[in-house]
Amino acid sequence: MNEPISYRFEYTSPISVAFIGAGGHSYRNVYPSLQYAPVDLRAVCDLDADRAAAYARTFGASRHYTDHRQMLARERPAAVFIVTGYRQDGRVQATELAMDCLRAGAHVWMEKPTAASSAEIRELMTVSEQSSRFVMTGLKKIFAPAMEKVHAIIHSERFGGATSINLRYPQQLPEPGLRHDLNAMRGFLDHIYHPAAILNYLMGPIERFGFEWEPVSGGSIASLRFSSGAVGTLHLAAGAAATSPLERVEVIGSGENVVLENGVKLTYYRRSDLGEYGRTGSFLADDSAAPLHWEPEFSLGQLYNKNLFYLGYVPEILHFCDCVLRQQPPSKGTLRDSLAIMRLFEAYQRAPSGTTVTLPRDDENDRREAVDNDQR
Ligand SMILES: NC(=O)c1ccc[n+]([C@@H]2O[C@H](COP(=O)([O-])OP(=O)(O)OC[C@H]3O[C@@H](n4cnc5c(N)ncnc54)[C@H](O)[C@@H]3O)[C@@H](O)[C@H]2O)c1
Repeated sequence: MNEPISYRFEYTSPISVAFIGAGGHSYRNVYPSLQYAPVDLRAVCDLDADRAAAYARTFGASRHYTDHRQMLARERPAAVFIVTGYRQDGRVQATELAMDCLRAGAHVWMEKPTAASSAEIRELMTVSEQSSRFVMTGLKKIFAPAMEKVHAIIHSERFGGATSINLRYPQQLPEPGLRHDLNAMRGFLDHIYHPAAILNYLMGPIERFGFEWEPVSGGSIASLRFSSGAVGTLHLAAGAAATSPLERVEVIGSGENVVLENGVKLTYYRRSDLGEYGRTGSFLADDSAAPLHWEPEFSLGQLYNKNLFYLGYVPEILHFCDCVLRQQPPSKGTLRDSLAIMRLFEAYQRAPSGTTVTLPRDDENDRREAVDNDQR
């Protein structure tokens, strides 16, 4: 977790990369993260030539394009970063761009959402397999250092296995008649990737799902049963104030629990014995069993105080680059992860509130479940 970070110019054998998309999020968060990655940014492509040229100048690429196919043919990059938007029909522009990159022989890092349906994820899986190139989606939440710590804690022997989870994330769900309209569902598709990635990362696949929906705010509360046997709730807290922290995650084990507030305040309540009920005068557990708390100091000019690090952007890009250099597929942000997320998205689309549905499963999920159970 605390491996020293290298600066881009210090890497001796960088990966030749190209970038599709010169928009707002990529300017703020993705291009700047490349400062710490082993990449040689050869070219930038955007439909808007002026933006492509400006981004190439700003982030150190020597060429720019408006046609990604031309860029792929001329530059032959080993990997491509894609950060684009939505098509008129509400589908995700990056899905087909990613297929073009795979077919051109490049590995792909793409922003979420990977696609707008599980069928499209399966198509990407097929093209990825045929081209022997992989796709990784930028699921920043599961690369955030504090979330990785939650994962480590709940998979430790002393935690006793995750038995339940409660996750809060503000997101509005449109009314039932609009849930198959991808334009009406754009915000939901865009954001469900965040909490769904966390649920899948920490708890594994969801087996059973049902939810209640509130029409004034569009908020909802889902009840979840995971393949592992654990249970959970996903509170999509639409209607919360813009000034409020977005997220709260709590995972309960057996005699222990861990809480992550606002993505950076982590408290681990460890197993402890406070003595006989009614006879204990102090709430202070022994130091060896007292709660552990971490939060950033936000004062020093340290990398860990930059959002590029604590939100998970640099870690996810480093994982991708490491996989390209080792010629190994990613272990996080995989197409399997995206498939699990899309299954939850589609469950919200198809299940009327107040009902319960079973989510599809596949062999890979079964294997992961077996591994999780083995670790208990
Ligand atoms: N992980 C996060 O924290 C986070 C935060 C914000 C946005 N995002 C994601 O980032 C994406 C939006 O990024 P943005 O704000 O930079 O988008 P944007 O809409 O500002 O820019 C997208 C750019 O892509 C270009 N583009 C579209 N199709 C293209 C093509 N075929 N060839 C070349 N260029 C093309 C457009 O011209 C535009 O300049 C979305 O997928 C969103 O979900 C993620």
